Amino acid sequence: MDVPLPTACVQAPDGTASPSDRGDGASASSKHLLEIRELAVRFRSDFGDRTVTDHISFHVDQGETLGIVGESGCGKSVTSLAIMRLLARNGRVEHGQVLFDGKDLLKMSRTSLDEVRGRDISMIFQDALASLDPVFTVGYQVTEAIRVHTEPDKQKARAIAVDMLRRVGLPDAEAAMKKYPFALSGGMRQRVMIAMALSCSPRLVIADEATTALDVTIQSQIMRMIEKIRVENNMSMILITHDIGLIAEMSDRVIVMYAGQIVEEADVFELFRNPLHPYTQLLIAATPGITDSEDRKLVAIRGSVPENYSDLTGCRFRDRCPFATEACAAPQAMREIRPGHFAKCRLAGTVTGKEGAK
Ligand SMILES: Nc1ncnc2c1ncn2[C@@H]1O[C@H](COP(=O)(O)OP(=O)(O)OP(=O)(O)O)[C@@H](O)[C@H]1O
Ligand SMILES: [Mg+2]
Repeated sequence: MDVPLPTACVQAPDGTASPSDRGDGASASSKHLLEIRELAVRFRSDFGDRTVTDHISFHVDQGETLGIVGESGCGKSVTSLAIMRLLARNGRVEHGQVLFDGKDLLKMSRTSLDEVRGRDISMIFQDALASLDPVFTVGYQVTEAIRVHTEPDKQKARAIAVDMLRRVGLPDAEAAMKKYPFALSGGMRQRVMIAMALSCSPRLVIADEATTALDVTIQSQIMRMIEKIRVENNMSMILITHDIGLIAEMSDRVIVMYAGQIVEEADVFELFRNPLHPYTQLLIAATPGITDSEDRKLVAIRGSVPENYSDLTGCRFRDRCPFATEACAAPQAMREIRPGHFAKCRLAGTVTGKEGAK
């Protein structure tokens, strides 16, 4: 690659591939577009090593949107960065597989991986200013991303870039092409990053808090626009956000993360109708709704996610759970409580967050 490209489309330093990699990521087969198997990510720090995602497994199918929710520090971003092999230098995948189309991204050579990233999988980050390169114009960055992955011809790539900027709602796309990122508003920059991430029609988009920094009106416009393009192109999406309402509106299936583990997984309707894990129940009960009646009481989940949870045994939520007993100190298995609805709690299905919140 001879030009510096924005982070939304290309690589960053990582340490997940070893020199002995076979190079093509050839691996066990998977019937899913993306399948994460037993992923464990470990970070080194001055305070010692710790595993922040604890052997998590999930999948995303073609055309499906998987929502990931959980409080701050639960491991949502680390999971998505590990998929893209964009972990910080002090992080590494210590166990697991990331199968995309049956090939393990963790075993791919850098060259093969660079082809997949941007073309097949792209990522929309929260902070567009940090992800766009300040010394290149918007036009240059979007055009180059297209040239590298889909259309080498400069004029054609430029035309696609202008069209994409229009589709993401930039009022004067031609003028925006000539601007540097700092000259655009936050909402416009976010649109540019989204245009870049979607310009190569990837099969999977990972949107990690893609609109959190924006005001609610722009947020909703941008999410609608992403959804339109996603549906038109039958793309899959991993939607990571704290916004439970957005998850409910846009996801087909949801996984709930707590302290580096998946604690619940279900179809979106099932999850919101019958949340089974006390953590999920409280998360939903803690979410305000615009149509709430005056007497609706919002619930606060006591305490916070433990800073260092890697050595905790048993249920990691138990110190905060209103239903916890001594039995919760034993390891909890993920169980299918209702068809397609899994929860990692021995009490799942027998309690409701409303009782605990009283
Ligand atoms: N480079 C790093 N070095 C050490 N620890 C890290 C590093 N990056 C992330 N972590 C730790 O991994 C855990 C999970 O972080 P992550 O960023 O995935 O949380 P998150 O669920 O995305 O939170 P948020 O909702 O705030 O974005 C946190 O405890 C965090 O401190
Ligand atoms: Mg995050």
